[in-house]
Amino acid sequence: MNPKPSPPASTAAALWFKNAVIYELPVRAFSDWNGDGIGDFRGLIDRLDYLQWLGVDCIWLLPFYPSPRRDDGYDIADFAGIDPDYGTLEDFRELLDEAHGRGMRVLADLVLNHTSDQHTWFQQARSSPQSSYRNWYVWSDNAQRYPEARIIFTDTEVSNWTFDPQANAYFWHRFYSHQPDLNFDEPAVREAMIAVVFYWLDMGLDGFRCDAVPYLFEREQTICENLPETHAFLQELRRRVDERYGGDRVLLAEANQWPSDVVRYFGQAANPAGPGGDAAGPEFHMAFHFPLMPRLFMAVRQEARRPIVDIMAQTPPIPENCQWGLFLRNHDELTLEMCTDEERDYMYYEYARDPRMKLNIGIRRRLAPIVDNSRREIELMNVVLFSMPGTPVLYYGDEMGMGDNIYLSDRNGVRTPMQWNVDRNGGFSKAPPEQLYAPLIQNPVYSYQAINIERQFQDSNSLLNWQRALIQLRHKTPLLGWGEIEFLAPANERVLVYLRRLPKTASAAAKAIPGPRCVLMVGNLSRSSQAVELDLSRFMGQVPREMFGGAAFPPIGAGLYQLSLGPYGYYWFELDA
Ligand code: GLC
Ligand code: CA
Repeated sequence: MNPKPSPPASTAAALWFKNAVIYELPVRAFSDWNGDGIGDFRGLIDRLDYLQWLGVDCIWLLPFYPSPRRDDGYDIADFAGIDPDYGTLEDFRELLDEAHGRGMRVLADLVLNHTSDQHTWFQQARSSPQSSYRNWYVWSDNAQRYPEARIIFTDTEVSNWTFDPQANAYFWHRFYSHQPDLNFDEPAVREAMIAVVFYWLDMGLDGFRCDAVPYLFEREQTICENLPETHAFLQELRRRVDERYGGDRVLLAEANQWPSDVVRYFGQAANPAGPGGDAAGPEFHMAFHFPLMPRLFMAVRQEARRPIVDIMAQTPPIPENCQWGLFLRNHDELTLEMCTDEERDYMYYEYARDPRMKLNIGIRRRLAPIVDNSRREIELMNVVLFSMPGTPVLYYGDEMGMGDNIYLSDRNGVRTPMQWNVDRNGGFSKAPPEQLYAPLIQNPVYSYQAINIERQFQDSNSLLNWQRALIQLRHKTPLLGWGEIEFLAPANERVLVYLRRLPKTASAAAKAIPGPRCVLMVGNLSRSSQAVELDLSRFMGQVPREMFGGAAFPPIGAGLYQLSLGPYGYYWFELDA
């Protein structure tokens, strides 16, 4: 079955992802419908009205495939199935229908790089050198090949090679030693993974968040990341997705790399004259901006805009039909891989004083506890996130300031059950509490009695209602998804200031977006009140309108424009371009 082709990729409608607000959620943690203590698709379907109310227009589902779940489902045992704990393929189809009926899109995780060691491909591959699956994985008779490749899970793994007694050989793995890497040099592997992509997209899925894409190929004398062979495969993947479905399916890259390397994952997305492209063709529609994320936290703690301004200055422009995915927190540790040693030490010192808060090269905490439950900091960081060039990706529970549990292993402390109300198990499940896949947060500050959706829904001053208003404002301001960014440099370095406007090269589709033509963002990164003087002379005569409350501010005159901001205060002003 071939779904109907979508409109050409240049229209604003086909570029829906540039103005989406994406909500990341693990089915397991969201809502348990059958009462077995594990969240499931029926539970999620039941909660779609909530997500619609919140204003989310795209859901990203963490892996829900059959899996021994030693890496929370990223260790996949069958790419074409649904883990029975989460439901059936029928349930999944119903979720797609119900989401689409509410105008919401659904992305799923696509794990190309590796499988679980329980996958039948690996079981067959290890069973005999003659197996037709042998070459689907990467084998060696020693553990010395590709020595330049770094270890990613530094807390658990000592090598990227593990000896398999059954195969009598070492196999290659960039992540856990129970997650053998697929061998992308094997054409049958490439075809099998494209078949997986078609299988889910044929069902009506809107796209994928593509896990760990830099690591698909290995070559001697390289770090085995971002190789030309990897880009060539990803270009092929994109081309075949576009051919089969027209333009509106979306591929979002998880490439935890420096900006100059990440932009290559956009390829030259049907924008031959555009910047940031690669001659060989388009790859991803979207890619996460990993280096920006820790610098948002750094800037707030240092009370200085420099970390943000610097990393954005190092970020090359990307084609207009591409987009950054921006996030504060996700299901993994707050990764510090894209930091210098000095920056990493600073982040650990400020945000991970208890060694339990560290994991691998990162910090395993949620948004609210990281900023000591400071509502003002949470707001400011969201306001920056929502006004930077990119599409915001929210992590379930952060919209109400959920807490974490650093006493759970691995990254499980940020994957605890969603807190819906004050009923048993926070309304997540009717199972006896000891049967839940993970305990709810107990800490009095963050427990479900204190922090839950129902309570915050009723409280017009809650973080939840504030977050919803921010999402609504963002939806009314498509410019924020399309425009370029220009930083202003007022003398007070504690204040972050930038303009968002369409570039001169904007296409007709970009020019046709409704709403403000120019947004001025002013944010106080400091815990104390600040005054700032801005050179806005080019807007002389205009009356800035503050976008959160709608108030008119004094007209812009010839001199410096004076503003004052409370601790972590912020404004978005609408101006004429
Ligand atoms: C990605 C996922 C992470 C997982 C890893 C290995 O980084 O975000 O959760 O452990 O890939 O699949
Ligand atoms: Ca269940």
